Amino acid sequence: MAGTQHAQWSSRWAFIMAAVGSAVGLGNIWKFPYEAGEGGGGAFVLLYLLFVFIIGTPCLIAELSLGRRGQKNPVYTMKSIATEEGRSTMWGLLGWSGIVGAFIIISFYSLVGGWVLAYIVKAAMGFGGFDAAKSTETFLTFIADPVQPIVAHFAFMAITVGIVARGVQGGLEKAVTVLMPALFAILVMLMIYSAVTGAFGEALNFLFRPNFHALTGDKILNALGLSFFSLSLAMGSIMTYGSYLPKDVNIPKSAITIAGADSAVALMAGLAIFPIVFAYGLNPGGGGGLVFMTLPIAFGQMPMGEIIGPLFFALLAVAAITSSISLLEPGVSYIEERTGWSRKKVTATIGFAAFLLGTLSSFGQPGNLLGDLTFFGGMTIMDVKDYFTNNIIMPLGAMFMMIFVGWFVSRKAMMDELAIEDKNFRIWYFLVRFICPVAIFAVFVNIIYDTIIQPMMG
Ligand code: PHE
Repeated sequence: MAGTQHAQWSSRWAFIMAAVGSAVGLGNIWKFPYEAGEGGGGAFVLLYLLFVFIIGTPCLIAELSLGRRGQKNPVYTMKSIATEEGRSTMWGLLGWSGIVGAFIIISFYSLVGGWVLAYIVKAAMGFGGFDAAKSTETFLTFIADPVQPIVAHFAFMAITVGIVARGVQGGLEKAVTVLMPALFAILVMLMIYSAVTGAFGEALNFLFRPNFHALTGDKILNALGLSFFSLSLAMGSIMTYGSYLPKDVNIPKSAITIAGADSAVALMAGLAIFPIVFAYGLNPGGGGGLVFMTLPIAFGQMPMGEIIGPLFFALLAVAAITSSISLLEPGVSYIEERTGWSRKKVTATIGFAAFLLGTLSSFGQPGNLLGDLTFFGGMTIMDVKDYFTNNIIMPLGAMFMMIFVGWFVSRKAMMDELAIEDKNFRIWYFLVRFICPVAIFAVFVNIIYDTIIQPMMG
């Protein structure tokens, strides 16, 4: 182990901004609205919030505590805590699964981030005269292009690398403390605009009136998977951010703030988007194309669309960048601490490797070079990576992490780390030991059954 000095956040505020920046991302503004749309609105939203607070937040507390206790990258953190507790160093694998998961996610996350950057430009040029056909064709032609999305993906990755290479305080912290307030300001502006000019009542109805019939087993897993994805759990990001956390910061309080801000942004994004969708008679269940194919139609018609459109995509870009830096950081901290190479060299290397892996996701888009290559009955390369990370690595990683914290680390160690009242500790400990692993496992089995076993049995 080469000894690089492990960094620290300069304040609680910087940490909260970084963690909220990691949490708030494409998951909130891109995935949440369309999965809520597909999942029947209010019922999905309720379940999502329930998962965020009953299961996600206790996991967030656990993962932050592990990070701060270990004071290293996820692999070394898991190993050193396991050793300290007299457990097998095989637990280090959990650190690995996070790092690998984060690497896979950033490879396609950056591609979508690149689409967003390209759409800032497209939106600024205006979507005048866009109807559903034109808007769909524009997007599909763009993602089928072998070159343009790759250039944009490269640009997005370069921004991420540029920030991460400057280090925790000089890069991450500086970026998030400027970008997060900017994100919030844009979001509030867009929401007010939507509320005033759009079909706000209908949007409220859609987002908050539960339709439990639409909530099938796979939608339930979607909600759980999304709550984990959205809180950045089990991917090493939160563990790494926790490892930079000063000892005097209260973890449970911070975790509740982070989860609250994260779900607030998801709901606000919904309230910015759906009034527009309904006002222009568009389809709220438009899937992953919602922000790229549906919204441009509205931007093309609305007053000030050339301003609101680019602002919206800028919002998305900011959210994506503050998350992608947290996806790059776990791998960077590991290689840096393992090899002692300079941070710049490590960051550029990993960033470039993730960029290369991401090009496959682009080539795998319908109509692109590898567009005919599909897996498991129609999944694109990007779908496979998304499925594998979101529905497999993440729930399993989270489940084992909870088992580790709840059953393999001493109660005293966790009490030291959390420093909360006895009663609250007991509630948290109960959730972590029993409720979280069982709930995650149940939903995980359910999805495996729905997507693998049942189709095989016909
Ligand atoms: N939470 C981020 C989002 O919602 C994505 C993310 C997942 C970031 C896992 C880091 C780790 O977009």
